[in-house]
Order: sequence, then C-alpha cells, then structure tokens
Amino acid sequence: MLRIVKDNAKSIHSVSKEVALPLSAEKKALLDEMLAYLKESQDPAFREKNPKVREGIGLAAPQVGVNERMLVISYPIDEEGHRTEYELVNPKIVVSSIKKCYLAGGEGCLSVDQPHPGKVYRDFRIQVKAYNALLGQDVLIKAEGYDAIVLQHEIDHLNGILFYDHIDPQNPDKEIPGSIAIG
Ligand code: NI
Repeated sequence: MLRIVKDNAKSIHSVSKEVALPLSAEKKALLDEMLAYLKESQDPAFREKNPKVREGIGLAAPQVGVNERMLVISYPIDEEGHRTEYELVNPKIVVSSIKKCYLAGGEGCLSVDQPHPGKVYRDFRIQVKAYNALLGQDVLIKAEGYDAIVLQHEIDHLNGILFYDHIDPQNPDKEIPGSIAIG
C-alpha cells in the first residue's frame, strides 16, 4: 500500500518537476495506484481494517514520495454513483476569478495530522489545463466552488504549498468581503 508523506518531510514543501509526455506506463500505473488508494480510503470497511488510512478525496504525487506534477481527485457527486474523477498531469490554472471562497468547515489534508483551524481562501472559479490520464487526452476543466477548492488544494501540493500556508496566523478567521462559504 502507498505510504503517505507527512508535512514534517522537506519534500512535501518542495516544488515538483514537470512530467514528460507522452506519459510513461510507469507513471500511469502510479496514478492508477493513487486513485485506487483514494477510493479505498472512502470505504469505511477498508478504513476499519487499516486504521492508519484516513479518508481523502485528492492526492498529489509528492504526498506519495514522488515530486512530479501529477495528482488524482475522486469524490461522489450524486447518489447514483457518478463521480468527479481525474488523473491530472502538469495541471496549470489558466483562468481564476477575483471572487474568493472557502470551505466553511476548514480544509484537511492526508499529509497534515495536526488541526489548523482558519479560513483558507481560494479563487471561486478557475479553469485548469492538464493532461487527464484517465481519459488519455488534454483537458480544460472549468470548476467553481467546491470543485475549484479541491483542484487548487491539490495543485498547491505540486508547488510545496499546504492549506495552512494560506491561513493568516494573526487573524485565522479573517473575513474577505464578498467571499462565499462553501458546504
Ligand atoms: Ni492535501
């Protein structure tokens, strides 16, 4: 099973390298393994058998010890089994809104075990260009609200940035006028 790198490791705070395309079979296999890990982490029975595994919806390659610009995201969007799911390589935010949002309950991260309360402001609407290895093609993802927050959290990992780096230490619950609380 994949081992999650925690935030006491220097590598989690480092900028990751671009990935050469076409994607190697080895890197595609790693993305598949990361995606499988995430989906298993969402299964209560699996977590009961593996108490160290925490539930996650996104995972970036540096979190499994590979400092390359790749990430996976997977979460259900309805009761019928539809999911938002990506295996992104070299993702790049090409458009972002002035309007901000934040998760009302705060953000969490598989690499961060200690609580870091406070508002993590993100751009409410973004567009991301990437190679999606799940589809085997280049994509332009238009996301807003929760979807945009998850993408920004995971892309931050590729730049060595953790959610708590965005929290104002002097004023963790600072209000930004016009920002939207999500969830
Ligand atoms: Ni994270």
